[in-house]
Order: sequence, then C-alpha cells, then structure tokens
Amino acid sequence: MNPPPTAAEIGVIGGSGLYALLDNATEVEVTTPYGAPSDKITVAEVSGRRVAFLPRHGRDHRFPPHKIPYRANLWALRSLGVRQILAPCAVGGLRPDLGPGTFVVPDQLIDRTTGRTQTYYDTGAVHVSFADPYCPTGRATVLNSAAQVNAVDGGTMVVVEGPRFSTRAESRWFTAIGGTIVNMTGHPEAVLARELALCYTAIALVTDLDAGVEGDHGVTQEEVFKVFAENTTRLRDVLLQAVTELPAERTCPCRNALDGIKLPFDLP
Ligand code: ADE
Repeated sequence: MNPPPTAAEIGVIGGSGLYALLDNATEVEVTTPYGAPSDKITVAEVSGRRVAFLPRHGRDHRFPPHKIPYRANLWALRSLGVRQILAPCAVGGLRPDLGPGTFVVPDQLIDRTTGRTQTYYDTGAVHVSFADPYCPTGRATVLNSAAQVNAVDGGTMVVVEGPRFSTRAESRWFTAIGGTIVNMTGHPEAVLARELALCYTAIALVTDLDAGVEGDHGVTQEEVFKVFAENTTRLRDVLLQAVTELPAERTCPCRNALDGIKLPFDLP
C-alpha cells in the first residue's frame, strides 16, 4: 500500500529566506495540542525519500524568532511521520575566519534565550540527555553533502533571545566562552526535537560577522537577508543532497532519547 501523500520521514525547517523547497508538493494543514505550526507543511518525494518542509518563520515571515511556535512545529512534523530533521538557519560569525557565505555544521550549543518555553513536559519526570544536542548521523551526512561548499565541521552555536542583535561586549563574551556562531532560532528547536526523540541537525549559513569581531561594523538586518538570499541556491543543493543520503534506518542515540522514561502522554 502506498503511504498517504502527507506522510514524510525527513523534515526540513527552512530559515530566513528559505520559504519553499519542494516541487510538486502536497500541502497539509496540521493542528497540534500546542496550536498551529508556523505555516502549512508541504510534502513531496525527493529521490525516493518522503520529505516535509516547514518555513520556520512562516512563508510571509510573520513570526520573529521569539514568537515562533517551536513546540507546534516539531509536534506537527512528528505527527506526519518525520523522525529526522534538517534545520538550516542564518547565523553571525564570532570569528574573523567565519565570514559571510561560510557553512558551519555545529556540534554544540549555548542557550542564551530567556523567554521561551523549552519543554513539552510540564508534569512528570522527563529529563532528556542533551550533552550532544545534534544527531551524529545527520551531521556526518550533511558534512558529506556539503563538501562542495566546504562546510566547517563543528562549532558552538550561541542562541540569543533577540530580536535585537548583540552588543559588542556581549559578542566578545560569546567568543570568550567558546562560541563560534550566534543566532536566534537554534533553541529551543534543538531540545524540543530531542524531547520527541527526533534526529536534529543544524546547518548554519553565516550571513555576517557579529558585532564583537575586530574591525567589523556591527550587524544589520538588511545584510542578513541579503547574504542569505545570495546563498539559497547553494543551501538548497546541500539540503536536497543530504535528504537523499540520510540513512532510512536510524542507528543513532537520538531515537532512544526517551527509553526508560515514563511519558505523561503519548507522542504522535
Ligand atoms: N542571525 C544572523 N546573524 C545573526 C547575528 N549576528 N546575531 C544573531 N542572529 C543572527
């Protein structure tokens, strides 16, 4: 029997400037216990893999980073059958060698957000491991697909609350505490994926050098959107290649994130 046209195994959550990805897609409106996701989800087959695409900010970019319905987004994707997520995002570079146009596949994250709900579990004892926030298989796959764009392997993404950019002092401090790149949407997306036992891989595209980098002028929104737009074709190529290379069978620890834990409700 064929799967329903809205069934998917891989999800892509598009960042600023990536509002569509798939051709000949079926559109689906999903409702969740956490409200509606950022937009309708489009589902299509890519080289034999079922892929769901959701624009993180909505197609018209109506959700700023601190207002994105992160819980609804991850829940909606899981309810379609998605178990592996690719998460492209725009970031600022915290080092002079990470200039605009550089791709980074981070391996660590520092949460500096302040006002976001970052769990599904407000009752019971559900404490997921988050020492390694990203899927090792997803990272290896994306690094392979992104070899053509020389993606940097590893880095620590500092996630700030926004919507303002950082001061020079904050930015210098992020570098001093080990940050490599900075953005506003990488969290709580990553931990919510883990709380649903999903694989989650961030693909960061540097759009600017952040304010603390010696000699830089400080970031502007215009610059972020311009550089992202200039690189969407490269990003799309990396994503569509990665989709074909992700293993169909999961063997990574992400799938066992909830093993042995008594959940207060069933997952979709
Ligand atoms: N997204 C893109 N560039 C950024 C920066 N410099 N700071 C925070 N978020 C960003």
